[in-house]
Amino acid sequence: MPDGAYLIDEMISAKSIAARVEALAREIHDCFAGTDKLVVVGLLRGSFVFIADLVRELDLPVEVDFLEASSYGDSIESSREVRILKDLRGEIEGRDVLVVEDIVDTGFTLAHVLTLLRARGPARLKVCALLDKPSRREVDVRADWTGFEIPDEFVVGYGIDYAQRNRNLPFIGRVRFTG
Ligand code: IMP
Ligand code: MG
Repeated sequence: MPDGAYLIDEMISAKSIAARVEALAREIHDCFAGTDKLVVVGLLRGSFVFIADLVRELDLPVEVDFLEASSYGDSIESSREVRILKDLRGEIEGRDVLVVEDIVDTGFTLAHVLTLLRARGPARLKVCALLDKPSRREVDVRADWTGFEIPDEFVVGYGIDYAQRNRNLPFIGRVRFTG
């Protein structure tokens, strides 16, 4: 659990996020135009707001599926061990797959998920991440599309939590620990 008081300062406004999501959707559309079998895979739980906005900007036939990998628990440090808590419902062999992630931090989660999904033989496997903290990377992995690069700060909002709280903020805020 959070063991001290903290404040949240706005880092990326709801308006900036909406504009960026629209631009990302245009690029993703251009990449996948013509496909009749795009599966958009949201990594739970942090991507649930982002994926909801992104798919509504995508003028393509899409299926939506979810996968949950273990992450931080209630800590703000990566465990570096990734486990699959909930697998996809559908098959992805021969299909175009877009993985939607909230934040790429050390890269352990995304690298693990991509290895798992690649082994299932998708036609194409691409990644769209809302946020990237490149200075934190420990595993060589990158998203094909990134919403915003941010510095090494702990953030919440727009689906992203601190100890399960603050996912419902409409903006992205940095957590400032005060006590
Ligand atoms: P990685 O395996 O270190 O890349 O961690 C990725 C996951 O850690 C993300 O999908 C988030 O769920 C979580 N995470 C990373 N940075 C933050 C943050 O600043 N706030 C909340 N969760 C974060
Ligand atoms: Mg996550």
